[in-house]
Amino acid sequence: MKKKTIQDILKKKADGQKITMLTAYDYPFARMVDEADIDMVLVGDSVAMVVQGLENTLPVTMDEMVYHTRLAKRGVTNALLVGDMPYMSYQTGVYDALRNAGRFIKEGGAEAVKIEGGLEIAHTVEALTRAEIPVMAHIGLTPQAVHRMGGFKIQGRTEEAANRLIAEAKGMESAGAFAIVLEAVPMELAKRITEIVSIPTIGIGAGPHVDGQVLVLYDLLGIFERFLPKFAKRYAHLKEEGIKAIRQFKEEVEKGIFPSEDQSFK
Ligand code: KIV
Repeated sequence: MKKKTIQDILKKKADGQKITMLTAYDYPFARMVDEADIDMVLVGDSVAMVVQGLENTLPVTMDEMVYHTRLAKRGVTNALLVGDMPYMSYQTGVYDALRNAGRFIKEGGAEAVKIEGGLEIAHTVEALTRAEIPVMAHIGLTPQAVHRMGGFKIQGRTEEAANRLIAEAKGMESAGAFAIVLEAVPMELAKRITEIVSIPTIGIGAGPHVDGQVLVLYDLLGIFERFLPKFAKRYAHLKEEGIKAIRQFKEEVEKGIFPSEDQSFK
């Protein structure tokens, strides 16, 4: 396997090949994702919900995101590593955005950052790109806007909202973003956006007619069980497997089966 670069991601769209991205927040899971030849590892602010057990993504801090990016970095050999700008790390202005995005690159070892928002952050995307920090935009359902949106709701359903999303996608492309995450938008709209912009669209809840797909790894593996969004799919049930193994350990200790001679020193 060969180290993936932004150029490889762009080429996949040009060649009509699907792009894959999964989240990871530490060494062992990043290793798994990397060994499975996924194109990009996203250290998502979803860490707040699936690892920290919080209600939404808002409380996770820059220090925590940089820490998790460093852990994931050690597990990634081939995939492109993307750090997710947490709430209030860029909304306060371009200077903060540059400093914080720079921390992902310098301290975390990320090769790009992801940033949520529409036209209001176009100038920030432009400034980051000018500072040689590749940017993945994220439009549609942007979880950091959970309070304004009144929950995690599908976006772009009305004609006005759909036109706004198209304008945002074009705006992100013009600002220099190398890719756009489209979250929870109707699939026909996602298809239109994918045809309009020249950069790759990575869907989550955006249907099949996009250039790539991203999922939260803990949803895919069946580790996070508090809820499963309609657009996610469980490919394994690791929480159940884990509980089964732990129960077996308990039983074996109680019955004197573990440790056996094999696990003991002579
Ligand atoms: O934080 C995250 O994991 C994300 C993906 C779901 C796109 O933003």
